Amino acid sequence: MDLSIFRFHISSLVSKCLLLLLMALIIRTLLLPNSFSLVSKNYEFGLLKSDVRNVKLKFLEVPQIVWGFNNQKIAFARACLTARTLNRSLLMPSLSASLFYKEIDQLQPISFHKIFQFEKFNSLCHGFVQLSRYSDLTNQSSIINLHKGSGRKWTLERDLDQLKEFSKQDYDVYETIRILGKNPFLWHDHWPVSDYAKVFECLVLVDEISKEADEVVSKIKHFGSVVSKIKHFGSDKNGVSLDQTPYVAIHMRIEKDWMIHCKKLEQRSNVSDICSSREEIMTRVANLRTLKSSTILYLAVVNKLLEDNLILIGWKEGMHPVDKKRLGVVGYRL
Ligand SMILES: *[C@@H]1O[C@H](CO)[C@@H](O)[C@H](O)[C@H]1NC(C)=O
Ligand SMILES: *[C@@H]1O[C@H](CO)[C@@H](O)[C@H](O)[C@H]1NC(C)=O
Ligand SMILES: *[C@@H]1O[C@H](CO)[C@@H](O)[C@H](O)[C@H]1NC(C)=O
Repeated sequence: MDLSIFRFHISSLVSKCLLLLLMALIIRTLLLPNSFSLVSKNYEFGLLKSDVRNVKLKFLEVPQIVWGFNNQKIAFARACLTARTLNRSLLMPSLSASLFYKEIDQLQPISFHKIFQFEKFNSLCHGFVQLSRYSDLTNQSSIINLHKGSGRKWTLERDLDQLKEFSKQDYDVYETIRILGKNPFLWHDHWPVSDYAKVFECLVLVDEISKEADEVVSKIKHFGSVVSKIKHFGSDKNGVSLDQTPYVAIHMRIEKDWMIHCKKLEQRSNVSDICSSREEIMTRVANLRTLKSSTILYLAVVNKLLEDNLILIGWKEGMHPVDKKRLGVVGYRL
């Protein structure tokens, strides 16, 4: 499994250095492309989809996409870019509604269109990548399987050779190429970061979920106004009304699942800078010059996966932390 996983953690390390994963919170920002820089050689196939209205479409099918939300977005983008490379339309994949990644029976598949707007995706990504429905298939038995390798022997070059092979005209007779393999997240990638960004820009949440995001924002604002009344009687030292206290979301990646994983990685690579402690994150946030002296910190952590109950303590003066639990948004998906 290792190369590409490792690359992700290295990249998350990079983004940690780039002021951890701090996302300005007009909550939609949670959904904008995050700053993973996927280190990859920039192989270009240059297969731009022509206008396919009168041509019989061909499809790519991929296994259920799993793990956390951002991981799923990245894996989904890889699936799209694989389809683009093969000059095929991606059959709308199943995402996962749960955070599990080992308990395969608990993965809770959820269709893409329950989370993101299907039509919107295709209109925004028109000419770049395309999603299709299973009902678009004309011949369900016209399928060829493509087995993705895994492990250390499965190199970037072998993966690329495989993609080139399956892009050949010989495979045009098959309506669908079905990718098989343990986990799309582990595929080697061959695409520039800008291609990932293009795909992310086409992902628009369904209304039901973006409404939840709006509610989270209004709860954060409400919290801001309560804080301002209690602590500062309506204004901070500079006379700025705290009703307009800016807020940022901070994803403190100190949950147990990540800590176990990052410690293993540190051991394996004999380095000590992959995990970050709560204190280290607080220090980095305190040093962020872009933050105003009074700021609400929305700590987007999974409370039940924390080692202790101390995340609200120790922030720099003027920083007003609140977590999902105290904000009353535990049942929310964001
Ligand atoms: C891509 O596929 C479309 C139809 O599926 C076809 O018309 C077009 O020629 C293909 N382009 C290349 C470069 O193979
Ligand atoms: C469907 O695909 C299978 C396998 O490629 C083929 O044998 C069969 O003739 C196709 N059926 C139609 C109606 O095209
Ligand atoms: C791990 O790294 C340290 C220095 O960073 C070095 O002294 C040590 O020999 C390394 N251990 C292994 C097993 O490579």
